[in-house]
Amino acid sequence: MKIGIYGGTFDPIHRGHLAAAAAAAEQLQLDQLVLIPDHVPPHKTLSASSALPQQRLDMAVLATADLPCKAEVLDLELQRQGKSYTSDTLRALHQRWPEEELWLLMGTDMFLSFHTWHEPEVIAQLASLAAFSRSADPHRREMEAQCRYLQKTYGARTVLLDNPHLVEISSTQLRQALTEGKGREYLTEPVYGYILRKGLYGTQADLRHLSREDLQAAALSCLKPKRIRHVLGTAATAVELARRYGAPEEAAWQAGILHDCTKKLELDEQLELCCRYGLELDDLQRQALKLQHAITGAAVAREVFGMSPEVVSAIRWHTTGRPEMTVLEKVIYLADYIEPSRDFPGVEQLRQTVYEDLDRGMLLGLEMTIEEMQERGSPVHQDTLRARDWFAEKEGVK
Ligand SMILES: [Fe+2]
Ligand SMILES: [Fe+2]
Repeated sequence: MKIGIYGGTFDPIHRGHLAAAAAAAEQLQLDQLVLIPDHVPPHKTLSASSALPQQRLDMAVLATADLPCKAEVLDLELQRQGKSYTSDTLRALHQRWPEEELWLLMGTDMFLSFHTWHEPEVIAQLASLAAFSRSADPHRREMEAQCRYLQKTYGARTVLLDNPHLVEISSTQLRQALTEGKGREYLTEPVYGYILRKGLYGTQADLRHLSREDLQAAALSCLKPKRIRHVLGTAATAVELARRYGAPEEAAWQAGILHDCTKKLELDEQLELCCRYGLELDDLQRQALKLQHAITGAAVAREVFGMSPEVVSAIRWHTTGRPEMTVLEKVIYLADYIEPSRDFPGVEQLRQTVYEDLDRGMLLGLEMTIEEMQERGSPVHQDTLRARDWFAEKEGVK
C-alpha cells in the first residue's frame, strides 16, 4: 500500500492544499493520504487571529471529505511538546505501517532546503520524497538538480509532481480575505462553515440569522465527513416530502440539514449540552447517544442557530417519533429513514409506502425500528412504543 504524508500548518486548510494532495494521490497512485497539522511553536504563533491546534485539526478532518482517496488526520505533531522533527514523525509512522510504502509530500521551498533538515538521511530512508512543482516552475532546474543531489547523498527516492490545479492562495492571504468577508471560494463547504461557527479569523457571522448557504456550511461542519451525504440526502428528501404532504418546505430543509448536528458528539459532550441548556434525560436516554442527539440537536438548533419551534420539534422527535406528530415531524422522521443513501433490507418497501401515505409510512418505519432493536436486544424507548401504538390505532391495525 502507498501512503502519502502531507504536513502543514493548515491555518486554515484550503483548496490549494487539497488540489496538491489530490494531484499527489493521482500521480503516485496513493491508496491513502495522511494529513498532519504541524506543531507551531508558541513564539511563532502567527497572530491573534490564528486558529487553535485543535481547530486546525478539526478543519483538516472536515477537509478530508473532499479528497479523492481514503484520508486520515493524525495529531502526532500537535501532541508533541517542544521541537517537532519530521524524522520523529516518520519513525512513528513507520512503526505504525512497517510494511507500507511511505511518500512524504512537500512544496518547492521545503524540497530545496531538505538537506538542512534534522536527520535528512533518516527521512530519506523511511520515506520517498515527492515535491510539488509545475513544468513552468522557475525552480524546475534547481529542483531537478536537488533530486540528483539527494539521490547521491542520501540514496533518496525522489519524484517531482506536477500540480496542474494549483490554487494561488496562501493561508496568510486567505486569513486576511476572511477578515474582510471574502475568500469562501478557497475553502470546502464544511471548513468554511466551521470557521463561521467558531468565529475564526475575524469572521463575525450571526449564527442565528445565517443565509441558507451559510447555514448549510455551518450544519455540515458539525458532522463527521462520512455523514455529510446522509444529511444532504435527508434535507433534499424532506423538501420533497414537505411539498407532497403540505408541510413548510423551508422549515423541512432547515430541520433536515440540522437534524444530526450533535450526532458526532461523545457522551460527555452530550451531557455537557444537557447541562448548559437545562435538558433532562430519563434512564434510557442517559445511556443512549442515539436518543441524546435528538434532544441536544434540537436545543442547538434553537439556541445556536435560532430555529423556529416547528423546526426544533421536528429535530427533537426524529429518532423516536411520538403520538400525534405534526406533518413536519413525520417528514423529518421519514426523510432521515429513507433518504437516497440509505440501504437496508426493506428500505424500498418503506420508500414506496411513505410516498403513498405518510401515516402508513410512519407505522411501517416505527415497526421496522422496534423489530430491529428487539432483534439486537436493545431496549426500545417508550416514546417509540407509544408512537407505534398511536399510528397503529389510527390506521386501524391492532
Ligand atoms: Fe439522527
Ligand atoms: Fe440522520
